[in-house]
Amino acid sequence: MVMVAVMGYGVVGSGVVDVLTEHSESIARRAKEEISIKYILDIRDFPGSPFADKFTKDFEVIVNDDEVRVVAEVMGGVHPAYEFTKRCLEKGKSVVTSNKELVATRGAELLSIAKEHNANYLFEASVGGGIPIIRPISQCLAANDVIEIAGILNGTTNFILTKMIKDKMSFEDALKLAQDNGYAERDPSADIEGLDAGRKIAILASLAYGKHIYPDLVHTNGITKITLADVAYANAWGGVIKLIGQVKKLDDGRLDISVEPMFIENGSQLANVDDVFNGILVRGDSTGDVVFYGKGAGKLPTASAVVADIIDSVKHLKARKYLYWADGDESCVRPYDESEYPVYIRVSTDDKAAAAARIKELFSSAHAIVYSEAPSDELAFVTGDMSVKQQDEAIKQLCEGSTKLLSRIRVSDL
Ligand code: HSE
Repeated sequence: MVMVAVMGYGVVGSGVVDVLTEHSESIARRAKEEISIKYILDIRDFPGSPFADKFTKDFEVIVNDDEVRVVAEVMGGVHPAYEFTKRCLEKGKSVVTSNKELVATRGAELLSIAKEHNANYLFEASVGGGIPIIRPISQCLAANDVIEIAGILNGTTNFILTKMIKDKMSFEDALKLAQDNGYAERDPSADIEGLDAGRKIAILASLAYGKHIYPDLVHTNGITKITLADVAYANAWGGVIKLIGQVKKLDDGRLDISVEPMFIENGSQLANVDDVFNGILVRGDSTGDVVFYGKGAGKLPTASAVVADIIDSVKHLKARKYLYWADGDESCVRPYDESEYPVYIRVSTDDKAAAAARIKELFSSAHAIVYSEAPSDELAFVTGDMSVKQQDEAIKQLCEGSTKLLSRIRVSDL
């Protein structure tokens, strides 16, 4: 029998306890060992819980108990999760986690500590909730050079955008609903400002390219400025707006990496990834496109990935697994203003004819978006490929007179 501890009894932690308890027989069969929860760490009280005898508020009890071989860290946040994880790994205990913030900010260091102490640090649940993506990238697709990864990586924002697109629901109502369903982060600004998706694409990039890409190197833009008007223009253009995390390897070896809302054509595989679902496309040089789809947030999908890592750790108590990346720095990433792509721009103006003429001069191959219900003082168009620096300059010149910028959203080639 292998003893495990669960640190954190929130949405994911309680899901992990439920899954381990309810599926104990099939889990034991797969792990080839019975797995028993010895401790659940939480600062709160849970009177009447069927697991009352397992709760502790004292981390020292867990770290100093040699019987505990695997610890699930599902507390979230960097502190004290970082200190707890480090100490468990230093004691040779394997740690599995759904904590994307910790993996994205301290992954290289924790992986290195795990290696030093012949323990495993596994984090399948940190990206894509219940979707298998960490193992596929590091194992199944290992023969490929990964050319690009792009995906819808945040369930909360995808849920909000879907409600705005399909039900014309307000941003606030949709966010409230996502929170009630347990999808959102404790502080939902991490979802809507794009930070959560930024951490996830940073983890995928680190894994695929072998160097730690820190989240502050990811150009990040959330969905708080997306309006129902932009949703309507995207529809008139033939697509939808999605929050996309993307990383591409450039010819010079640097990475182009960002999280931002994008126009996606209706024909794209990612256009129909709706609600809390995530969709992740991995473009390999041998495989071509491989797409992963499933529930990217929520109690049981995420718990399922955490428990799979517990089983894997139990099966590899004496062996190190494959996950590893070296430390990285800003030289790994191309500055965002050098990125090149087409962009959707919407402006208001007192003189439409003059503004339309200026748009033709300033933006390469601009195409107007024809939207029958557009306000009479608005113009919207999609440009050809331009660097961000060129876009900034052209927008500045366009907006010198009465013309005002209302929106600017990347147009994807996915
Ligand atoms: N808040 C996250 C999301 C949870 O909505 O995707 C899963 O990482």
